[in-house]
Amino acid sequence: MSEKISFEPPRGMRDFYPEDMVWRNRVFDAFRAAGAAAGFEPYDACVVESYELLARKAGEEVGEQIYHFYDKSERHLALRAEMTPTLARMVAQRQHELSFPLKWTTIAQCFRYERTTKGRKREHYQWNVDIIGEDSVLAEAEVIGAACDALRRMGLSSKDFKVHVSSRKYLGDLLAASGIPASKHAQVFLALDKRGKMPDSEIAQMLADGGLGAGEVQATFAIMDTKSYAASPELAELFRLAEIAGFADCLQFDIGVIRGLSYYTGIVFECFDTAGEFRAIFGGGRYDNLLTTIGGDPTSAVGLGFGDVVVTELLKARLGADAAKAKRGVAIGFMTPEQRDTALALAADLRRIGKDVNLALHPQKPKKFFSHADSTNAAEAVYIGPDDAAKGVARLKDMTTREEKEICLRSPNS
Ligand code: HAM
Repeated sequence: MSEKISFEPPRGMRDFYPEDMVWRNRVFDAFRAAGAAAGFEPYDACVVESYELLARKAGEEVGEQIYHFYDKSERHLALRAEMTPTLARMVAQRQHELSFPLKWTTIAQCFRYERTTKGRKREHYQWNVDIIGEDSVLAEAEVIGAACDALRRMGLSSKDFKVHVSSRKYLGDLLAASGIPASKHAQVFLALDKRGKMPDSEIAQMLADGGLGAGEVQATFAIMDTKSYAASPELAELFRLAEIAGFADCLQFDIGVIRGLSYYTGIVFECFDTAGEFRAIFGGGRYDNLLTTIGGDPTSAVGLGFGDVVVTELLKARLGADAAKAKRGVAIGFMTPEQRDTALALAADLRRIGKDVNLALHPQKPKKFFSHADSTNAAEAVYIGPDDAAKGVARLKDMTTREEKEICLRSPNS
């Protein structure tokens, strides 16, 4: 007797049934359109990478969440947890052939062994937009502007989300001004990134463990109350550019944005829903040293990752679970096997003029046909009975208004 296996996908992994694909396509279409509108070129890469490229220093969450394995030749491989190291590798490989600045985009499936909670899965699709080889803050503005554009294309506005922006460089300057040397900043960033996720007393302990004295810990917390970005030329410039480009209403300064990944060097940002109900919608920043870290030439870079999970939850909450169910295409049905060829001829004719046609595969009673056409969201439906086929005329029904109009049928052999 065969053993019954679970029909569920492995924990944290998702199946996409057709009703899920409607949402996924809505999100992906907005990603692709916003990327193209801002001049980003699509690229892609393998999902499996060498573990060595992805592995990171201790303390970084993503490094600890990597799915890794040995292949039959004992190569240590891993599923990518994010696209950025792969992008850096691809750029480093062709560094002397590529024409900079590069503006590249992709939708990459990523795998992380996370604790699965609302908004966090063990697999997600992540839209990446990156600009490699540009020092000016216009790069940040273009990347963030593209992400805001994608959210607008999905049907959301600046009332629904805000991009919280800060700068590690600015925070570093503030820490240095309080006497905390640059050598301790990485530890400080790591601890401060945990703020809101654990009590301040534990953060203080982490800072102390990182070598900060009591006065320095206190100074660090005081810095986290900074409300103005005016002393940071790069942040001031970003807000000025956003004003010109028309997305300043989507931005807000937030010194508390640190980012969990260690490679960021300058401006960092994270987008949240305004109601604070969901996890981060997207996040990114400037990472000017990553290429040198993996052995490439020094190259500035800025980019972001925008996952499909949180934004889909947000869209369903704000637009309603049925919002993505747009009616489309024509359903064609027939009553007895004798009308099958006529139905196929009509389907072929309509497809030739660019219509999407869902042709029934076997005869059906009219009630069954129309209820199936409704459940598959057909915009129009044609049902062919023996009389229609004999007369060479059928009725095309608008599934929203229920209005009908006559259409001609051709003989299947003509
Ligand atoms: P990240 O903040 O780790 O950044 O991820 C970016 C986005 O991916 C998150 O804001 C979220 O939307 C989504 N995401 C991440 N992990 C999960 C998960 N387990 N389940 C669902 N969604 C998730 C990065 O990955 C950087 N590499 C982004 C970047 C690109 N920086 C520069 N270029």
